[in-house]
Amino acid sequence: MIFINEEKRIFNLRTENTEYVFGLDNENLIRHIYWGNKINNENDFEMDVLCEVSTNDPVYEITPEEYPVFGGLRYSENCLKVTFDDKTRDIVYKYDGYEVDGDLLVIKLKDVYYNFTINLNYKVMEKYDLIERFVTITNESDQSIVIEEVYSGQLHIPYENLTFRNTHGHWGAEQQMFKQNVSYGKITIENRKGVSGHNNNPYFILDKNATETSGEVFYGALRMSGNFKGVIEQTPYGETLVQMGINPYDFQFTLNPKESFTTPPLLCGYTDKGFEKMSHNLHNFAKENLLREGLRPVLYNSWEATEFNVTCEEQIKLAREAKKIGTELFVVDDGWFGQRNSIHNGLGDWYVNKEKFPKGLNPLIEEVKSLGMKFGIWVEPEMVNPLSKLYIDNPDWIYHFKTRERTTSRGQYVLNITKKEVKEFIYNMLDNLLSNYDIDYIKWDVNRPICEGGATNLGENERKMAFDHIQAVYDIVKELKKKHKNVLFEACASGGGRIDLGILGIFDDFWTSDNTDAYDRLFIQHTYSHIYPIKAMRAWVTDCPNFLSQRNIPLRFRFHSAMMGTLGIGGNILKWSDEDMKLAKDMVEEYKSIREIVQEGDFFRLENTSTNNYHLFEYTKDNEALLFAFLPQTQIGHRPVRVKLRNLDEKGMYEYKINGETMVKSGSYLMNYGVNIHLRGDYQSEIIRFDRR
Ligand code: GLA
Repeated sequence: MIFINEEKRIFNLRTENTEYVFGLDNENLIRHIYWGNKINNENDFEMDVLCEVSTNDPVYEITPEEYPVFGGLRYSENCLKVTFDDKTRDIVYKYDGYEVDGDLLVIKLKDVYYNFTINLNYKVMEKYDLIERFVTITNESDQSIVIEEVYSGQLHIPYENLTFRNTHGHWGAEQQMFKQNVSYGKITIENRKGVSGHNNNPYFILDKNATETSGEVFYGALRMSGNFKGVIEQTPYGETLVQMGINPYDFQFTLNPKESFTTPPLLCGYTDKGFEKMSHNLHNFAKENLLREGLRPVLYNSWEATEFNVTCEEQIKLAREAKKIGTELFVVDDGWFGQRNSIHNGLGDWYVNKEKFPKGLNPLIEEVKSLGMKFGIWVEPEMVNPLSKLYIDNPDWIYHFKTRERTTSRGQYVLNITKKEVKEFIYNMLDNLLSNYDIDYIKWDVNRPICEGGATNLGENERKMAFDHIQAVYDIVKELKKKHKNVLFEACASGGGRIDLGILGIFDDFWTSDNTDAYDRLFIQHTYSHIYPIKAMRAWVTDCPNFLSQRNIPLRFRFHSAMMGTLGIGGNILKWSDEDMKLAKDMVEEYKSIREIVQEGDFFRLENTSTNNYHLFEYTKDNEALLFAFLPQTQIGHRPVRVKLRNLDEKGMYEYKINGETMVKSGSYLMNYGVNIHLRGDYQSEIIRFDRR
């Protein structure tokens, strides 16, 4: 709901539990006033007059502006920096009214001299306690304007000494959470690689001594893949501010006369109920607005089993084995096309490899379909190898500088998909693939960063390639989905390099990480769950010793770890023993019986109250709950851990089985006293199901 006090010029955005307030001050600046729990009385808010503290603390510095621009006595981080045609590098805006359209409030700002407008958009998502912020700038003049920086928004948090959380990491180690005390100075998180984000992730979480279930948390996630930047700064004036949006690194473009540009949206929220509520708000938003309906199939993927040595015969064998354990979707990974026998060739030549598939893909697809499974295939459309015919025929199709050597990474170049003809080539290639074959699932990979983005199709001095590149990816997939409605798209970038809320909704699943070690995955999945929905989290059971960690983990634990998300199997099942196949079949069957709760329910990171190294998670949906308990290594063998469940019906009676014994307890008991879990040994795990009677 949007409330406006016209007289005081104060705008009040209300969600179910929160309120976000700002207004127009005596200096004509859009000033932030409040973000926190709902107050429900817009008339209480005042716009105090702010006075310069000293000449070194000018009003512009002490004013918590909603969208500070570059210009005047502003020296802090700003959100918008432009150069007008006459070389003026300074914006002076005035308020030019507002518009309300349903849940959208638009604050209109206009430069006092130039015909340049800035619309601050606020979309209220009441039900999720979220506000989406984005900005549209328009050049209404007859001269061009150069844009050097344009963030999605600035947020003000009325505290110092907060804790900041984000991810660090690298390939095979995505979604490693770090937390850092916010003090004076700035924290910067960003991605500069254009296509992948194994390191920082485009979100912020700032809390004031919060736990999973208590405490204040301010958070936001950017709906964009690729080059983002976030700056977190505790100011000398008693607050912490956050800017987030497109990374100004190697970014610049010309806004031509009559053109507009809209930033990616930043989804922001507040709660005083801890990280769990934050996750639920974001998960519910994603589940109900971004993800397509329906349960995700259990997949088999052949990558770890065969790598590039794909053959029709062996894929058929794998498909038959996969069917035996209950797999519903069979995915052929890298290696099926062109001269793709290693990383050095094939990308770009998207014809079926004759040696590997003498009769084409259809014999495999027909077999997979006759087994009653769906069929999926791997592609890496944004790339080309120097040896590929596509590159030999079109050497200008990649990002490069004419006078410089072209840099390969993983033996490949990046196609300049911001060029019309390249974008069309990719669309047509995929459209043909999906039209000619009965394909239900595309694993879309991207395995190297972009560089040498000089020769784009933009004008001179333009540096918007990273942004345009990802927009082109979005466009292609959106277009393909219009025609091939039922095809699911998995976003993969050397593992989990494209996990963000920009790609979700356009793509359907994330490949979470190439690190398939079931123990490492507990940490990756734990961090992932803070922002992103479980239903999009692909997790595979693979072989041991794990190729990365060299660790041996029992198959049951590996299954349980992968069953935390959307289950897949990625091991060489041709080599699995009868005993393993039997266990796998049982596990897949169990997964199918609980996946509705896992994929569509509410997810909880439970507290481990013991000194033993338990990892405890819960899922609830309607009358059911699941408890996942993992113990990688026993430390004090005689002690159980008492686990308090969440989100049960206090008065309801729940039936569950523990150590072979059936128990019935009240929801209230299970949530307050809890349930004793006693695992002993190494790599022990249990999934316990609670059914409300
Ligand atoms: C990337 C992906 C893997 C696999 C390989 C194939 O590394 O993350 O899952 O598809 O590429 O080359």
